[in-house]
Amino acid sequence: MRAYTFVRPGNAAWTEKPMPDILSPRDAVVRVTMSSVCTSDLHILAGAVPRAAKGVTLGHEFVGVVEETGEGVTHVKAGDRVAVNVETFCGECFFCRRGYVNNCVSPEGGWALGCRIDGAQSEYVRVPFADTGLTKIPDNVTDKQALLAGDVLATGYWAADIADIEPGAEALVIGGGPVGICCALCARLNGAARVFVCEKEMCRREFIARNYPELGVVAPEEAIGVVRGFAHGGADAVIEAAGTAEAFELAYTCARPNATVVVAAMYEQPLVLPLPDMYGKNLVFKTGGVDGHYIARELADIAAGKIDVSPLVTHEFPFSRLEEAYTLFASRADGVMKVGILM
Ligand SMILES: NC(=O)c1ccc[n+]([C@@H]2O[C@H](COP(=O)([O-])OP(=O)(O)OC[C@H]3O[C@@H](n4cnc5c(N)ncnc54)[C@H](O)[C@@H]3O)[C@@H](O)[C@H]2O)c1
Ligand SMILES: [Zn+2]
Ligand SMILES: [Zn+2]
Repeated sequence: MRAYTFVRPGNAAWTEKPMPDILSPRDAVVRVTMSSVCTSDLHILAGAVPRAAKGVTLGHEFVGVVEETGEGVTHVKAGDRVAVNVETFCGECFFCRRGYVNNCVSPEGGWALGCRIDGAQSEYVRVPFADTGLTKIPDNVTDKQALLAGDVLATGYWAADIADIEPGAEALVIGGGPVGICCALCARLNGAARVFVCEKEMCRREFIARNYPELGVVAPEEAIGVVRGFAHGGADAVIEAAGTAEAFELAYTCARPNATVVVAAMYEQPLVLPLPDMYGKNLVFKTGGVDGHYIARELADIAAGKIDVSPLVTHEFPFSRLEEAYTLFASRADGVMKVGILM
C-alpha cells in the first residue's frame, strides 16, 4: 500500500509499505476512510519534533473502519466505524490512571501514531491499545463531523478543562486557527459566559464571526483593551494556541491576576519567561500535549448537536492529491482551515 512518509526535515515522500499486521493482542488494524493534516505534521516536517522517526508514515488525525482486531480487544470489532485518539495509551500505568495519557509509559504510549509508529496517511493503520484508542462513531455523526475528534477537538476539550473555567467566566484564546477555535468552543461548552478569540489574520477573524457568532473576535492590538472591560480587568482564563513569542506575551498580559494560562501551542523555539514582569500576578501556567482521552464525550456532544467543528474542514482532497493538500494547508491560502483527505 502507498504511504506518505517523513524522510528527513524538509522532506516527505511516497513509499510502498506492506499492509500492517496485528502485533499484539491489544492491537487493531483500521482502514482509513478520512484523514487530515495537522499543524503538528508541519512541525515534524520542519524538524521541530526530535522524537519523530525517519521513515514513519505521517498522519495522526483520522477516522476509519475496523478491519481486524487482536484477541484481547473487546470494545470494538471488525466493521465498526471509529474515531481514533491521537494518543495510544495502555490505560493502566500511573499516568494513564490519572488521565495523563500523553505520558503513558508504554513504549507505544503517548503521541506515537504518525510520529514514532506508522500513521494515517496510508490505507491501513495498526492502532495499539485499540480498546482505549478507538471509539465507535454514533450513526447520526458523519466521518467529517468526527474527523477532528481525535486531535484538534480533543485539544479543545483538554485545554478548556485544564484552564479551570468556572461558569460565567470570561476567557481569551490567542490564535484563531483550528486549535484555537476548538479551544474557544470548548470554553463555552464548559460554561464560560464570554469567549474572545484573538487572531491576527482578518480572513480568519471573518471566518470565526461567520461560522461561530457565539464567539467574540478581536485583533491582537485590540485585545488588551477588550479584556480590560472584563469583570476583573483581565481574562479569567487564557489559552495560547498560536505558538509565537508575541502571542505568549499577549497571553500573560491579558490574564487577570491568579488566572490560569494554558499553552496549547507547540513552539518551534525556546521562550524566555519574563518572571520580573509577572511577579505578583500569581499566574498558573499549564503546558503540554493534549491528554487525548475525550473522544466518547466529544462524540456524544456532537451527536447531541452541542458542538460542530465540521465547518473547519474547508477543503477536501482525494488521497492521490495528498501533497496538494499539504501545500495548501501549509500556505494557509484560499481561507483554508483544515483539509480532509478522502480515501
Ligand atoms: N497541545 C496539543 O496537544 C496540540 C494538538 C494539536 C495542535 N497543537 C498545536 O497548536 C497550535 C495551533 O494549531 P493550529 O492548527 O490552530 O495552527 P494555525 O497555525 O492554523 O493557527 C495559529 C493561528 O495563530 C495566529 N497567530 C499567530 N500569532 C498571533 C498573535 N500574536 N496574535 C494572534 N494570533 C496569532 C495565526 O494567524 C494562526 O491563525 C500549533 O502549534 C499546533 O502544533 C497542539
Ligand atoms: Zn495534531
Ligand atoms: Zn499508560
